[in-house]
Amino acid sequence: MTRKVRLSVDAELRRATERDLPALSTWSGHVKGTFAPAVASDDRVLLVANANGRFPIGHLLVDLTGGVLSHLLVLGGFRDQGLGTALIVEGERVLRERGVMHATLVVEKANDGAIRLYERLGYTREGETDEVFDEPMPDGSVQPVGHPSWVMRKEL
Ligand SMILES: CC(C)(COP(=O)(O)OP(=O)(O)OC[C@H]1O[C@@H](n2cnc3c(N)ncnc32)[C@H](O)[C@@H]1OP(=O)(O)O)[C@@H](O)C(=O)NCCC(=O)NCCS
Repeated sequence: MTRKVRLSVDAELRRATERDLPALSTWSGHVKGTFAPAVASDDRVLLVANANGRFPIGHLLVDLTGGVLSHLLVLGGFRDQGLGTALIVEGERVLRERGVMHATLVVEKANDGAIRLYERLGYTREGETDEVFDEPMPDGSVQPVGHPSWVMRKEL
């Protein structure tokens, strides 16, 4: 038997602080290496979307020096309701507020859904790159794996 409970969730977007990191750590592997240094720095802004103002369900990292948006993610159960779009729109607002009048991002060529979202918001492909990440292999080793990606840009 499956029991259903109808939930109502408001997502609150705001700049993350150190106090947001423990909850993010429950599901994100980026906290120690990327988000903790970012919230402690003046040139990066981590935006977090909190369900009912309490638990993180999405994030976007904004680099104010280069106008770079990265680490866009919305948790699976909360997608296709406009949250990814709202995070990008808020990231662009943060950039404009700091006088950075362009945004760039890197998206894997295979990520059709994200590319559609970015193109709908006015981003265009301006180049390509091969992102290389260390990834676990079936034999237990960790190897560098290339991810062909687009570099996309928008004037703000
Ligand atoms: C990419 C990602 C962030 C998008 O987040 P999202 O919250 O689903 O984004 P949105 O809801 O704004 O847009 C997604 C779709 O939902 C649609 N949508 C938006 N609001 C909606 C609503 N209220 N009702 C129905 N559909 C809606 C959008 O039109 C869009 O449709 P499309 O897929 O046909 O373009 C999310 O899929 C994700 O986290 N993916 C894994 C990580 C990733 O790939 N990140 C990008 C790295 S570059």
